[in-house]
Amino acid sequence: MAADILGYADKRVAVMGCFSGTGEALARQLVALGAEVHGADIKPSPVEGLASFTTVDLKDPASIAAGVASIGGEIDALFNVSGLPQTFPGEDVVTVNFLGLRLWTELWLPRIRAGGAIVTVSSLAGMRHLLRQPLLKEFMDLTDFAAARAWYTANAERAGDPYTLSKEAINTWTQQLAPGLMARDIRINCTMPSPIDTPMLNDFRKVAGDAVLGAFAKAKGRFSTALEQALPLILLNSDAARFISGACVPVDAGLSGGLATGVLNMEQMLAEAAAG
Ligand SMILES: NC(=O)c1ccc[n+]([C@@H]2O[C@H](COP(=O)([O-])OP(=O)(O)OC[C@H]3O[C@@H](n4cnc5c(N)ncnc54)[C@H](O)[C@@H]3O)[C@@H](O)[C@H]2O)c1
Repeated sequence: MAADILGYADKRVAVMGCFSGTGEALARQLVALGAEVHGADIKPSPVEGLASFTTVDLKDPASIAAGVASIGGEIDALFNVSGLPQTFPGEDVVTVNFLGLRLWTELWLPRIRAGGAIVTVSSLAGMRHLLRQPLLKEFMDLTDFAAARAWYTANAERAGDPYTLSKEAINTWTQQLAPGLMARDIRINCTMPSPIDTPMLNDFRKVAGDAVLGAFAKAKGRFSTALEQALPLILLNSDAARFISGACVPVDAGLSGGLATGVLNMEQMLAEAAAG
């Protein structure tokens, strides 16, 4: 076994979403691991040591295409971290979280080397994706950016929470792409974090309230840090995970497993959290 089991030294990687939170922590770690890190975000990244930074707005297909062309060349690993919470307009949430990241990834695909990998940050909000396949298929079959955005506007009530829809789409897309990409020796996975102590948490507080967020933190007694979410992304895109593809990995300190098996009870946890 090599001493550098993660194998990032001299790898060329791209990180979408390195202005703040998880993506910022991730980019810092990748720089420290010796990777050539190309960052992108709608806002400038504070991370030192990036090989390049490119401004990309995931709401805008032209900006996405220009970003990929500007970074250029081939990469070994793609990290998709950007996201918007439900405090933003629903159309923007589904566009940034799914449509934009999907286009960005598709444009990178011809440039990902054999042995390479893609990882996207989804959410526990997307964990029931297999139960909503007909609806998700309707949305995801629309490959045209504007048409897919318009679908959400026309179907907002039926589609429900845009954040949940976008993360269910990420999970579905990850699992759909995995077998075909394996033929090119490229892996694709996603993570499903529970609440993370990042700027986005304040938005979730406004939407869900402290009691609900408190219940999601119950498994560990606290929220995860950005670094605790960044490290599994590094693992999944590393040589150490070379037989893992098509996985939607909960990064939640056991919460989803407990709920799935009935060891944890969400109603009870919500009541306890509300009671303080
Ligand atoms: N914070 C949580 O509780 C939580 C829980 C589960 C999943 N997530 C997911 O984790 C990921 C990272 O979020 P975070 O918690 O680090 O929050 P964050 O707000 O710090 O990070 C979000 C990033 O997305 C970028 N972004 C926003 N709009 C963009 C656009 N139009 N184009 C390009 N980039 C854009 C932001 O500039 C920022 O760098 C997101 O996908 C989010 O949905 C967060």
